[in-house]
Amino acid sequence: MRLSAITPAILGLVASVNSYSVTYSTETGYFLQDESSTDPSTFDYTAVNFGLINRTYPADRHLKHTHEYTQWERFYHQVQRLNKDSPSSVEYKVLFLGRHGEGYHNAAESYYGTPAWNCYWAELDGNSTTTWKDATLTPAGITQALKAHTFWQKQITDQRIHTPDAYFVSPLTRTLQTANYTFTDLSLPAHATKFNPLIKELFREGISIHTCDHRRSKTYVHNLFPEWRIEKGFSEEDELWNGVTGETSAAQDVRSTTALNEVFFTDEAKKADAFISITSHSGEISSILRVLGHRSFSLSTGAVIPVLVKAEKKGRDSVPVSSTSAAWEVSPHCTEPPVTSVSACVCPSSAVPVTTPLITAI
Ligand SMILES: *[C@@H]1O[C@H](CO)[C@@H](O)[C@H](O)[C@H]1NC(C)=O
Ligand SMILES: *[C@@H]1O[C@H](CO)[C@@H](O)[C@H](O)[C@H]1NC(C)=O
Ligand SMILES: *[C@@H]1O[C@H](CO)[C@@H](O)[C@H](O)[C@H]1NC(C)=O
Repeated sequence: MRLSAITPAILGLVASVNSYSVTYSTETGYFLQDESSTDPSTFDYTAVNFGLINRTYPADRHLKHTHEYTQWERFYHQVQRLNKDSPSSVEYKVLFLGRHGEGYHNAAESYYGTPAWNCYWAELDGNSTTTWKDATLTPAGITQALKAHTFWQKQITDQRIHTPDAYFVSPLTRTLQTANYTFTDLSLPAHATKFNPLIKELFREGISIHTCDHRRSKTYVHNLFPEWRIEKGFSEEDELWNGVTGETSAAQDVRSTTALNEVFFTDEAKKADAFISITSHSGEISSILRVLGHRSFSLSTGAVIPVLVKAEKKGRDSVPVSSTSAAWEVSPHCTEPPVTSVSACVCPSSAVPVTTPLITAI
């Protein structure tokens, strides 16, 4: 790929930013994951009812026979009440942010160690035995997605949980597969929204120069799950990944804000849609949590975190506020396997770090 190809990628991102001004915040006191005493590294969302705290809610007083409702039923009722009691510029939604199960790129990063992975191996499509470009799920990753499936089914049966009103998924293969294994063939309550996700470009992983962040074509995505919806304007080829520059956290947060604005305030999610599933990635979920003002909470592969979000829209609907964008950065890397992978990227003495792609982008 030519260096001149960087500019359209950046412009492409800017062009998609036409957000209104929205202030997001996380309502705490509902989930264990919001509490500083909860350790993300040992937390198992399936062991404790998704983390929903056992408590009463102000809205309980509107229910007769409170004890006949489960915690999740009362929580859903509480969220509905929050929406009912707030002005039209304010919306509450519960986001179920799910990280994909283990992909071949995750396994390879563990195998090579993160420094060597970042500075050489991740720039390749794979090695002679494994492919990790737009990685698929490993068998362990499929098991993690099926664990989420089993857990949702148990929540539906035991807790009569309100299942998502809308489903969004990143276009990378590992997230498409994860959403499929998690939500296909769930036995849903009669009134529930059927699983028919919308594939959304802006929920993809942070766009580094790694080939695992390079998505495949729209045709490939469509052929993998022909029934699923792909958002309007989704390009045939990946126009954001270029293999030379990568999104910074600041640039990613701008993108995540745009994605959330679309979920909250466009016709993709109706106002009545209070529970939203988003199947995405570790880095992207971290970015979303930053935008939501949630404390940092890293998810293991296949894990899900629910967050009660308050969104407050400023200004009139029809007035878009111009968003600032942040520049991307080049990522120097080695052209040969690094000499050490212990703590830093050290190229062999004959080779200095370069910023040109190791492979030819198509
Ligand atoms: C809430 O109570 C139930 C039943 O007593 C228990 O199984 C569950 O783990 C509790 N949830 C939390 C988050 O403590
Ligand atoms: C390729 O990478 C995988 C890790 O994902 C590793 O198990 C395998 O041994 C590597 N193959 C070669 C030939 O080094
Ligand atoms: C989608 O999930 C179903 C149910 O688990 C499974 O049978 C099917 O193979 C999956 N499809 C793909 C393309 O992964």
